[in-house]
Amino acid sequence: MRKPNSLKASTAAVAVLIWSLSATVAESGIGVNWGTISLHKLSPSTVVDLLKANKIEKVKMFDADPDVLKGLMGSGIQVMVGIPNEMLGVISSSAAASDLWVQKNVSAYMVKGGVNIRYVAVGNEPFLSSYSGQFQSYVIPALMNLQQSLAKANLASFIKLVVPCNADAYESSLPSQGAFRPELAQIMTQLVSILNSNGSPFVVNIYPFLSLYGNSDFPQDYAFFDGTSHAVTDGPNIYYNAFDGNFDTLVAALSKIGYGQMPIVVGEVGWPTDGAVGANLTAARAFNQGLINHILSNKGTPLRPGDPPMDIYLFSLFDEGAKSILPGNFERHWGIFSFDGQAKYPLNLGLGIGKLKNAMDVQYLPPRWCVAKPSVDLSAVVNHLRIACSYADCTTLSYGGSCNAIGVKGNISYAFNSYYQLQNQDSKSCNFDGLGMVTFLDPSIVLYSTAEDLAMDQFELQHPSLQHTVPQ
Ligand SMILES: *[C@@H]1O[C@H](CO)[C@@H](O)[C@H](O)[C@H]1NC(C)=O
Ligand SMILES: *[C@@H]1O[C@H](CO)[C@@H](O)[C@H](O)[C@H]1NC(C)=O
Ligand SMILES: *[C@@H]1O[C@H](CO)[C@@H](O)[C@H](O)[C@H]1NC(C)=O
Repeated sequence: MRKPNSLKASTAAVAVLIWSLSATVAESGIGVNWGTISLHKLSPSTVVDLLKANKIEKVKMFDADPDVLKGLMGSGIQVMVGIPNEMLGVISSSAAASDLWVQKNVSAYMVKGGVNIRYVAVGNEPFLSSYSGQFQSYVIPALMNLQQSLAKANLASFIKLVVPCNADAYESSLPSQGAFRPELAQIMTQLVSILNSNGSPFVVNIYPFLSLYGNSDFPQDYAFFDGTSHAVTDGPNIYYNAFDGNFDTLVAALSKIGYGQMPIVVGEVGWPTDGAVGANLTAARAFNQGLINHILSNKGTPLRPGDPPMDIYLFSLFDEGAKSILPGNFERHWGIFSFDGQAKYPLNLGLGIGKLKNAMDVQYLPPRWCVAKPSVDLSAVVNHLRIACSYADCTTLSYGGSCNAIGVKGNISYAFNSYYQLQNQDSKSCNFDGLGMVTFLDPSIVLYSTAEDLAMDQFELQHPSLQHTVPQ
């Protein structure tokens, strides 16, 4: 009986070989989006220290901010820089502008001890349906020009151009029937063929939160990763979460145009913690932890079993208090960290350090607040509140927000204080025609709506109005 034995042994050897190959090849990277539309920014060096402390080795940016790039010098962190949609027009029509962009924003940092730039994002969701096609015609010519510029700079084999697309670029009720939007079919075929010949992945942003937010029929448990009573059956495949369903809709759309094997990177994925019903710490933690565990399990999806996305970039590193709230009040609350680099909830990124570590040595303003005087005449104050909130961030007061129930006076004080902190506690900014006053007593009220929220208090959950601000 020697034969079966030796056969067994060689099968085991092959299995070990395959295992060690897949362990090095198929491991997904977990990165973060570093947006900088904040009212109070942390210094880039503090942020880079925070990334390092958390062993985050991949960051994606929306532009090529020189201060941020300087902060990343020598860190070894892999970087995706971005070209805003507004710049696509000039880069698409001018090879010189494209060369200059690459020179100033890429080549200048590709030196010893420089920045490890690996990707350039050409536009950000340029095909988003709400843009009504305004950037569409620039994308391919900009991509071609930039590819030439990278080649001239001898960087074409090292730095890949990508075009992050919103998941609204494709559609279908069942994943296997996925197809790009009819008006994008031609441009997507062209785009994907260029990406493929450059060895670039397809980058997609997937947001189950937005599906839930925008659709009252959307089954809530299908947005998460804990099992669902609303599984979607698609021929032989069963989908237990919206992320997999969405991802496979893209896989099917790519297959339909002949690129079913194209590597996919998830450029943005996450869950906000405030500003809408369903945006809270418990849900964000459940979604992000569920997602990370799912990705790192290497299970993949029904159409790509054992083949999870190449990389995912969580959206987002920080809350960004100056972002447009056109999409909704939740838009300023996507961070896994608050604006000052404090973890909002315990999260294990699977990078070997356990739960998130906070930013160190953050400088705060003194503990002072601006509140409405006790005697305040409510009718006189409406206009002040409106103006204060048009500069400062008051989105936690909104319906579904964490401070929605603090009452009329609470609302006013919150607005006054947000504006006062934004103005770096300039005493004139607390005047409000004599209706405001500075206090040294912490006015915040912590509202615990669930036992889980209460448990999070042990994790130093602070009411946003309690936080002092970070001077720039
Ligand atoms: C480099 O990127 C920055 C930030 O996105 C932008 O403002 C600047 O115009 C770019 N430089 C060139 C030469 O295009
Ligand atoms: C948090 O959001 C989830 C859905 O996203 C919801 O089921 C839950 O009730 C919310 N929790 C609180 C305390 O509002
Ligand atoms: C406080 O402001 C929010 C947001 O405008 C509003 O929804 C809420 O009803 C206000 N509270 C009171 C008691 O007026």
